This record gives sequence, C-alpha cells and structure tokens, in this order.
Amino acid sequence: MRRPFVAANWKMHGAARFVEAYLEDWRKTAPRGAVDVVICPPLAYLDRIAAALRDDGVLLGVQTVHAEPAGAYTGEHAAEMARDLGATYAIVGHSERRRLFAENDTVVAAKFAATKRAGLVPILCVGETLAERRAGQAEATVLAQLDGVLGHACAEPRDTDFVVAYEPVWAIGTGETATPTQAQQMHGTIRARLGDVGDAFAQSVRVVYGGSVNVDNAEALFTQTDIDGGLVGGASLDAVAFAEICRVAGRQTDS
Ligand code: 13P
Repeated sequence: MRRPFVAANWKMHGAARFVEAYLEDWRKTAPRGAVDVVICPPLAYLDRIAAALRDDGVLLGVQTVHAEPAGAYTGEHAAEMARDLGATYAIVGHSERRRLFAENDTVVAAKFAATKRAGLVPILCVGETLAERRAGQAEATVLAQLDGVLGHACAEPRDTDFVVAYEPVWAIGTGETATPTQAQQMHGTIRARLGDVGDAFAQSVRVVYGGSVNVDNAEALFTQTDIDGGLVGGASLDAVAFAEICRVAGRQTDS
C-alpha cells in the first residue's frame, strides 16, 4: 500500500512574520503519522522552517533547482545547496517553471537528474493546458512529459524514489478543480505508463493531484484509486487548512 503524500507549494509567497505565524498554527494543528507531509516554501525561509520543524516529522522541499552542481548561474541554486539547507524533496517541472521560465522536457530531465545526484526526491509535475485538453491531447501531453524523465533520467529503471504530481494547468490557481473522475482517469493513465517499466514500480510510485485542492474537495479526490495525495498551492498558505488536507489524505491509510 502506498503511503499518502501531501506537499505544500507556497510558490513566491511568505514573509518573516507570516512564517512565524504559520509555524505557530502548524504546531497546534499538525497531523501525526499515516501521511508524508512536505512543505516547499521559498528558499529564503527553508532553513528557518527546517530548524523549527525538525522534530515534527515534516519534510522540506524546494520549488526548483538548477541542473548543474555549481557555476556562473547568477541567482540560481544547486540541488546540493538545497539539501544543505535541509531540503529532502525538490519540485521539478512545475507548469509555472515550464511556462514562465521556458523549461522544456530536456531541461526538466536534467533537473530531475540533478535532484537524484544530490540525493533529493524529485516531485515531477506533469499536466496539460486547457487548449491541449480541448484538442484531445491531454493524455499525450502528460505521457510525453513523463517519458521525458523515465527515458532519460532514471539511473535505475526500478527506482521508485520519486513522486509524480498531475497538475492540469487549467486547474492551477483558478478555483477550477479537475473532477475526481477526470483526475482518476489521468492518474490511471500515468500509472499504466509506469507499469511499462514494471508492476512493482507502478504500484509503489506515488502519483498525487494538484490544482485548486482545498479542504472541501480533498476527500473526493484522495479517495480515488490512483490518487495518493496532493500538491497544494493556495490552500497550503493557511496552516490549519493545509493540516486538515493532510489529515484527509492520512485517513486513506487508516480506512
Ligand atoms: P493551487 O492549489 O493554488 O491551484 O496550486 C496548485 C499548484 O500549482 C501546486 O504546485
């Protein structure tokens, strides 16, 4: 059985005071056991949050890494540097990075490999735009994004140490969620493609959903067969709401 997984992607939100208030709320309400929880704040706050939550069982992640371990790349950070700050996960290939920072599948594959090189666990984001969905290209788009990594970056084909996040671009920050049925359908497609590598591989990789996940829709999504949790943006900025979403995911193990 796959352990539920929920990650917070704060994106470029937060401030020193916000972080202190968040940590205070989180400590009062944090879920225990039954679910892997990862918080991906802006890099600037990572070590502060890592230190504060060291004993709380929460893991930390970064929202991107550079593919190279070092070099003349002003403003960037290497996966190894993120690890030094306390990260154990890294989001790779988020649609905002693909769209706003021109990251194509080749760049994403290189970054995926960099996270593995540094010993971080990649959270690979895949997802189609509305235009691609309307053109009947949703599955082809998502599978091409997945293949970009499965084909080039897995040192060991059976390495299960990564998470796939299906995030339909049209559902991110829009308040429009994929229906549980739509999401399950794509998750099933993703798992079937993982199955081409091997059955055990497909059964152990966590595939989580992202795109306007909130307290009200989490249960309907997380109870789907192939949805193992969520990658949460906006709703993760509220510690109480995020804790509740994590609890909902954890209940899928209990039941
Ligand atoms: P929202 O939950 O705000 O739609 O963001 C989803 C996301 O992009 C998480 O990576």
